[in-house]
Amino acid sequence: MKVSRRSHVPPFAVMQVLATANERRAAGHDVLNLCAGEPSTGASDVVRERAAELLRTADLGYTEAMGVPALRAEIAGHYRRWYDVEVDPSRIAVTTGSSGGFLLAFLAAFDVGDRVALARPGYPAYKNILAALGCEVVELDCGPDTRYQPTVPQLMEAYYEGGLDGLVVASPANPTGTMLPPAELAALARWCEEHDVRLISDEIYHGIAYSADVQQATAAMYTGSGAVVVNSFSKYWAMTGWRLGWLVLPEELVGTVDALAGNVALSPPALAQHAGVAAFSAAGYAAAADNVARYAASRAALLDRVDELGWRPVAPADGAFYLYGDVAGFRDAVGGDSVTYCRRLLAEADVALTPGADFDAVHGGDWVRLSFAAAPDVVSRAVDRIVAWHRTL
Ligand SMILES: Cc1ncc(COP(=O)(O)O)c(C=O)c1O
Repeated sequence: MKVSRRSHVPPFAVMQVLATANERRAAGHDVLNLCAGEPSTGASDVVRERAAELLRTADLGYTEAMGVPALRAEIAGHYRRWYDVEVDPSRIAVTTGSSGGFLLAFLAAFDVGDRVALARPGYPAYKNILAALGCEVVELDCGPDTRYQPTVPQLMEAYYEGGLDGLVVASPANPTGTMLPPAELAALARWCEEHDVRLISDEIYHGIAYSADVQQATAAMYTGSGAVVVNSFSKYWAMTGWRLGWLVLPEELVGTVDALAGNVALSPPALAQHAGVAAFSAAGYAAAADNVARYAASRAALLDRVDELGWRPVAPADGAFYLYGDVAGFRDAVGGDSVTYCRRLLAEADVALTPGADFDAVHGGDWVRLSFAAAPDVVSRAVDRIVAWHRTL
């Protein structure tokens, strides 16, 4: 029987790295895993305690497709607290992770054949979900000259080439960690509004930022002009496996997303939603801030040793918890591109990194991504091992 053509999304190169890392660990090796894009801590105590209580006392049946009112109200409060932006809870859809949010937002906003632009390098699920939905992905080549973020001139070029229906941006971005300063986000949002292009803003790394001079701006300021915000409990609140995220929707998409959400998933996970309310308590924010302080310490230690690592250049890592570095200088020494670099590093020094090919099909062979969300001692031991391994090449 046939398998649909549109479901042919490419497998991630990191899956091979992870499979080998697991085999080596099972064989007794002390593998340092810096592939995973997730905090090592897990949810805060206040969320866990609430979940434990709910397991004993609540029925935890299906909820409203758009999420429980208490959580939607807390999310609206978060916009008031962090950004001084008023969002009516009726425009918030609670989703199954931001991944579920992307599916709903793309389905609601785009038709088959629509052209949607995004940055390359970037988080691969955007383009794979869009392709599976029959959209045409327009990759914008974003390098150090644009701080790995799309610009208005790039949008103009894509627009005049064949029209444009959407733009996906991420700030802080995965894998580069770079951020869009408020003026640049505003310029992109204005351009999108003027050209009838739907802006989708991935803000799941908000709150994880290291430099005071790059403020975080939310596209929730622009939902009146059609922008959609995607966010999640996975990163800042360290709740990856709870599968909880949200959308801030423009009015015209609310009914559509409500109907789609009910059909696709009935409701987001009930336990995660009810317990997720506690993430917005003072203790919830405090636990998240402690995590960010740890990433900041790991990042500072890592950046101190970048010269020693010999990756040139590295992306600025303004936010998120990734260091994206150019390892093209090691091509001859390792006998191949960054996939070979990662394979050999794992086999010879037990350090697992993600090859850049997963984020950039064109230049990714030169790049690797290191996640410093792991415990700080793991990150520093990994750098020791990488530096020592380079000497053996
Ligand atoms: C930029 C970005 N967006 C979205 C996601 C999806 O996260 P989740 O579905 O857990 O919210 C990830 C996961 O790593 C990511 O890096």
